Order: sequence, then structure tokens, then C-alpha cells
Amino acid sequence: MLSASRAHADTLEARLAPCLACHGAKGQSANPEVPSLGGQPAFYLTIQLLMFREKLRVVEPMNQMMQGLRDDDLRNMAAYLAKLPPPEPAGGTVDSARMEKARALIEQHRCNFCHNRDYSGEQNVPRLAGQREDYLVKALREYKNNTRRGYDASMADVLYPISEEQISDLAYLLARLR
Ligand code: HEC
Ligand code: HEC
Repeated sequence: MLSASRAHADTLEARLAPCLACHGAKGQSANPEVPSLGGQPAFYLTIQLLMFREKLRVVEPMNQMMQGLRDDDLRNMAAYLAKLPPPEPAGGTVDSARMEKARALIEQHRCNFCHNRDYSGEQNVPRLAGQREDYLVKALREYKNNTRRGYDASMADVLYPISEEQISDLAYLLARLR
């Protein structure tokens, strides 16, 4: 028979406690280069967890965290995380010239065609609105230099003509959207 404490350790909340210590309990990450997970589409999260487990997306500590988890565990975790509130956008004064430059890039590259008009994401396409700026820069750079493999090739194609300076403007804008 299971003891009460063992049963507790098996609940989804208990399993997610170490995750949320890093990613933020309320969906918003306070740690540099650690993404906020609140409001991400559940399917996107499931796929990324699977890619971490299979080491298709290579990054510590995530590859290690996923070892030994079953597909059902990944789906349940993703469903829980998707229901956390979306992150609050970055505050402070806004450089409107930079925002304008980024808006023009977004139009040109049709980012909001796939990521939704309000950048909330859907299916296998992630939410971008309010994501941490440092993480957005890292993600975009890694698609561009092919160190992050995506579930499909969309992002490597998108980033091909985009410069380092444009990456930083895009991240600046997206982190400030609600
Ligand atoms: C020590 C900190 C840490 C812990 C603990 C941790 N993560 Fe992560 N996680 C990260 C970092 C850093 C990344 C970003 C990797 C990158 O740069 O691509 C990440 C990425 C992710 C992503 C991809 C998000 C996206 O937008 O693509 C998901 C989903 C995720 N983690 C879920 C989890 C779950 C579930 C757990 C617990 C089983 C967990 N994490 C534990 C640090 C952590
Ligand atoms: C053709 C559809 C498409 C277009 C256009 C597109 N994206 Fe994406 N984007 C995706 C998909 C699909 C993913 C998930 C890829 C994966 O599995 O890693 C993604 C992932 C991302 C991520 C990673 C987010 C995270 O949480 O890790 C960022 C950042 C991003 N896109 C920004 C952009 C920007 C900025 C543009 C415009 C310059 C853009 N995307 C245009 C489909 C698209």
C-alpha cells in the first residue's frame, strides 16, 4: 500500500515544483535566459518536452530533467503549464523608434501570420508576447546559427535574412507586448 507521503510526491504539482522554481510559479520567469511558460499552447509545450527528452533540442538542464518521463507525463505537465497566467510584459520607458523598426520587420517577415495576430501562439507555434527579452534573443540566435533544431524548419528559414541587430529589435518589441 502507498504511504500518504509517497502518494503526495506522485501528484503533478509535486513533480512540477522543481520546474516552477526555475520557470516561475505564476507562469513568469525571473531568471535570465529561462523562458516564461504561462499561456504557452499545450501542444507546443508537449512537443518541446518530447524534443528535450529525445535530445533533439539540446540544452542543459532540460535534457536531464526529462529522462525517464513517459509521454503521458509530458502531456500532463504541458496541460498544467499552459493554464498558468501569461507573463506580464517588460515595463519601463519605451524606445518608440526601436518599436517602429521592429514593427516593420514583423510586417515584412509575417511573424504574426504564424504566431497569431496577438502573438499568443497556437498548436505547435509558441506564444511570444511578454516573453523574456534575453530568452527571445537567445532563441532567435540559435535558430539562425542552427544550434536549435525546431519541430519543423520554419524558424531557420525565417531567420536566414535577419541580422543580429534586427534580432535584438524584434526581441525588444515582443517582450513589451501584452
Ligand atoms: C535549473 C532551471 C530549470 C529547471 C529546474 C527546469 N527548466 Fe525548463 N528550461 C530551462 C531553461 C534554461 C530553458 C531554455 C533552454 C534554451 O535556452 O533553449 C528551459 C526550457 C523549457 C521549455 C521550453 C520553453 C519554450 O518556450 O520553448 C519547457 C516547456 C520547459 N523548460 C519545461 C520544464 C519542466 C516541465 C521542468 C520540470 C520537469 C523544467 N522545465 C525544469 C531551465 C529549467
Ligand atoms: C511559417 C510560420 C512562422 C513564421 C513566419 C514565424 N515563426 Fe516563429 N516559430 C514558428 C514555429 C513553428 C516555432 C516553433 C519551432 C520549434 O519547434 O522550435 C516558432 C518559434 C519561435 C520562437 C521560439 C519561442 C520559444 O518560446 O522558444 C521565437 C522567439 C519566434 N518563433 C519568433 C519569430 C519571429 C520574431 C518571427 C518573424 C521574424 C517568426 N517567429 C516568424 C513558426 C513561425
